[in-house]
Amino acid sequence: MSELKFSDWMAQQQSRAETALERALPMSSIAPERLHEAMRYTTLGGGKRVRPLLVYAAGKLAGASAPTLDVAACALECIHVYSLVHDDMPCMDDDALRRGKPTVHIQYDEATALLTGDALQTQAFDLLSAPGLFADPIRQLRALHTLARAAGSRGMAGGQAIDLASVGKQLTREELEYMHLHKTGALIRAAVLLGALAGELDDDALERLDHYAKCIGLLFQVVDDILDAVADTATLGKTAGKDAANNKPTYVSILGLSESKDLAAELANEAVASLAGFGEAARRLHELAHYIVSRQF
Ligand code: IPE
Ligand code: IPE
Ligand code: MG
Ligand code: MG
Ligand code: MG
Repeated sequence: MSELKFSDWMAQQQSRAETALERALPMSSIAPERLHEAMRYTTLGGGKRVRPLLVYAAGKLAGASAPTLDVAACALECIHVYSLVHDDMPCMDDDALRRGKPTVHIQYDEATALLTGDALQTQAFDLLSAPGLFADPIRQLRALHTLARAAGSRGMAGGQAIDLASVGKQLTREELEYMHLHKTGALIRAAVLLGALAGELDDDALERLDHYAKCIGLLFQVVDDILDAVADTATLGKTAGKDAANNKPTYVSILGLSESKDLAAELANEAVASLAGFGEAARRLHELAHYIVSRQF
């Protein structure tokens, strides 16, 4: 498998994540049918699956078992999709398109969107807390703690609160970095750490991976800001130009396009540099940093 070129590896792992999610989510024939259908509608058959890819790449490096990684990947994707469903609601970014399809509040209704997010969030912890999932229960508890922190008010939800409070404001570069590290960086970081915790890396190796993860987490949102400004709606599968329309402070609005691109390149380099000690075993993480900085959607 390690000989596959990156694009083939990525396609293979994306389809692995899709299969795992298919199995992890309740069937839409089970009551409450409409809620389960909405959870499957928004989670399955779309998205780049970057967080699962990070779980798989870090987990492989750490020698984790494949079934454990599948569950960790699903947990991360469930939290991520929940964050997207709520992010798109009228009370937040008010977007009608996600992953090339109508958003949940448009396709269903607002209450269903709210509950779909709630249910996906708890689905993640349902999956990750399954007794015996990790060989070492202490490491499983660390993984649960890491994901809870990353999703909550000191992670993604906190970052989203700052994002909403910042509409129409001119943030400093430090404030913008803080917001992005939380709203997007926290879950990306958790993806790498969960993969690593599922295996057997020591704390020093975990710390070096965490630095990589912090860099690509920030990088991911810098590139998201750039793409919002330069790409079109058809390519993105979500409404382009939304940040300017919603008066959001972004890297593009604060640093300009060219400086944002320079920063993205610097962050990718810094991420890759923190993998130095892992050699060839970190190849996929290295390639993922490159993918995140050069992606077109
Ligand atoms: C979009 O995330 C929202 C951010 C956190 C920037 P992705 O770009 O990973 O969205 P999908 O999962 O591929 O749809
Ligand atoms: C998203 O930031 C962060 C989360 C969903 C947690 P954005 O609001 O920029 O994401 P998009 O651009 O709508 O995907
Ligand atoms: Mg938003
Ligand atoms: Mg948004
Ligand atoms: Mg965006």
